[in-house]
Amino acid sequence: MSGPKETALPAAWANAVGEKLATRDAGAQRRHLVPVPPGAPGTGGARGAGGMRLFSSNDYLGLAGHPAVREAVAEAAREHGMGPRGAALVCGHTTLHETLAMRLAALEGTEAALLAPTGWAANTALLGALADADVTFVSDALNHASIIDGLRMARRTGAAVRVTPHGDAAAVEAALAERDTPRAVVVTDGVFSMDGDVAPLAALREAADAHGAILVVDEAHGTLVLGETGAGACEAAGVRADVVVGTLSKAVGAMGGFVAGNRTLCDLVLNLGRAQIYSTALPVPVVAGALAALDVAARTPALRERLRAHQARFAEALGRPVPTPIVPWVLGDEDAAMGAAASLRAAGMHVVAIRPPTVPEGTSRLRITLSAVHTDADVEDLLTALGQGSTGDDGGHWSAIPRL
Ligand SMILES: Cc1ncc(COP(=O)(O)O)c(C=O)c1O
Repeated sequence: MSGPKETALPAAWANAVGEKLATRDAGAQRRHLVPVPPGAPGTGGARGAGGMRLFSSNDYLGLAGHPAVREAVAEAAREHGMGPRGAALVCGHTTLHETLAMRLAALEGTEAALLAPTGWAANTALLGALADADVTFVSDALNHASIIDGLRMARRTGAAVRVTPHGDAAAVEAALAERDTPRAVVVTDGVFSMDGDVAPLAALREAADAHGAILVVDEAHGTLVLGETGAGACEAAGVRADVVVGTLSKAVGAMGGFVAGNRTLCDLVLNLGRAQIYSTALPVPVVAGALAALDVAARTPALRERLRAHQARFAEALGRPVPTPIVPWVLGDEDAAMGAAASLRAAGMHVVAIRPPTVPEGTSRLRITLSAVHTDADVEDLLTALGQGSTGDDGGHWSAIPRL
C-alpha cells in the first residue's frame, strides 16, 4: 500500500501560506474542524450519536431528522440516485426542483421563486444580477457574509454600496436620500444570524417606498420560524419585501437557497446570476427532503409553537426579549467564550463560541440556538449550566462560564 502523497508546496507558497495562518495563530483565531457525531435516530437531531445535546444547529424545527423527511430522502435516493447531473440551465432542474420552487413561492406569497445551490449562491447571484452603475445598494453593517460578498461583486459593475449602522432605519433613509443613482436597493438580513435580532422591517419598507428603492430581505433564519405561516420575519412584521432570499439549510433542515419575488426579477437572476448559472443544481434527494420538510412544517404548527415556548422560557430566565431561536450570550473576551464553550461541551452540551472576525472585536460570544426538538428538560439543563435556571444555582459545576 502506498503512503500519503507528497504534498510539499513550492517554497514561496509554503512561506506565504504559513504567514497567513500565523496571523490567525497570533490572534488565537485559527479555526479547526471539530467533528460532531451525526444526529441519532429518534432524537430529531437534538442530540448527536454520542448523546451530545446540540444547542448550536440551525435546525430550528428538528426537520433535518424528522422521520417523514428521512423517508422522502431515502425513497428519492432509491428511485433517482443523486442527480442532478448538471446546472439548472443544463439538465439539473428536474420536475421535482420545479415543484419545490413553486412551493417556496407559495410560502413567500410571491409570483415566482428560483432555486439556487446554497443561500450563499442565492445572495451573490441576486446582488450581482441587480448591480450596474446606476444602482446604490444600502446594506446593514451586520448583514451576512454572503450579502457582503454579493456587494463586493456588485461594486465591480460600478454600483455604489453604502453600509449603514446596524438596525438604523434613519441612516438607511438618509443614504437613500443622498444617493446619486436613479435606482437603489435596501438589503438586510431579516433575522441577524449572530445576534438573533430582527431588522426594523416596517421602517425599512417606508424608507424604500419614500425613495423608490426595492427592499431585499434575507430570510435565512426566519423561514418556517417566524410569521403565522412560517414565511419569515416579513410576515411577522406585516411587511412586503420586493425580493426574499432564503435558504433551505436552516429550519428546512436540508440544503440549498432560493430567491422569491417578481417573475421578471427571478428571470433576471436566472440569466445573470453567476452563482446560479455556473453551479450544479441541488441533488434530487435533497429536493425531496426539503419538500417533505415543508409539508411537515405546514401540517405541524405545534413545532413552531414549541420553539416559541422554549424562547419564552429563555426570555423569562434572562429577563430580556428572545424574539428568535438565536440567543447570543456575549462574553466579550475570546478566551472567555472559548472556555465557556469547552465547559459546556465537557458536560455534553454543544454550544459554539463565535469570535472575530465573524463578530466585531470585543463581542465574542456563545451562540445558543434553540430547537423544537429540545425537551423542556434540555432547556432547563442549559439554563442551569448558564446559571440562569429556576434555582439560579449551577451546582458549582459551571464556574468557568461568566454570568451575564
Ligand atoms: C443570513 C444568512 N444568509 C445566508 C446564509 C447562507 O446560507 P447557506 O448556508 O444556505 O449557504 C446564511 C448561512 O449561514 C445566513 O445566516
